[in-house]
Amino acid sequence: MSFDPIDKARPVAEQPLTNVGVDRDSIGVLVREFYARLRGNERLGPIFAREISGDWEPHLEKMTDFWCSVILKSGDYQGRPVPAHLKLKDVTEADFDIWLGIFGETAAELFAPETAAVFLDRAERIAGSLKLAMFFRLPPRLAP
Ligand code: HEM
Repeated sequence: MSFDPIDKARPVAEQPLTNVGVDRDSIGVLVREFYARLRGNERLGPIFAREISGDWEPHLEKMTDFWCSVILKSGDYQGRPVPAHLKLKDVTEADFDIWLGIFGETAAELFAPETAAVFLDRAERIAGSLKLAMFFRLPPRLAP
């Protein structure tokens, strides 16, 4: 195994979570359980039902690729999350709290606490970037 100074300098939460029982199969279980719960949520369920009306399998596979890329650094996901969310005009910042609450609960039930904490940390940071893209506007006097 070669020594990678950049990897060594990264915070623990940014290193790939291998050797702690996290692999594509366990991530697939998390993704499926998480979306089952989201679809049952009274606020977010109808939004997902409207946006993903047909076969859910491609979305679940895409989200498994996404989380494998985030957590295992697998490179499986090549998409662009920001445009997919910019078009969701009725989603609010508070909806992200619901999303993160359900995600954190699901991860905590399926993984050891330290592992679940890494999933939630990554989700919170990505949610932060999505929220900036969706909701942040410069005040008029600073706008270009
Ligand atoms: C209230 C919060 C959220 C809502 C309502 C939401 C909703 C959606 C919907 C409806 C899609 C499907 C869009 C499409 O296929 O046309 C989607 C895609 C996606 N979402 Fe979210 N999302 C939320 C938060 C998040 C968060 C926090 C993350 C990451 C941590 C995330 C990651 C993704 C990814 C990776 C895709 C696939 C984008 C692509 O490549 O097509 N979402 N989301």
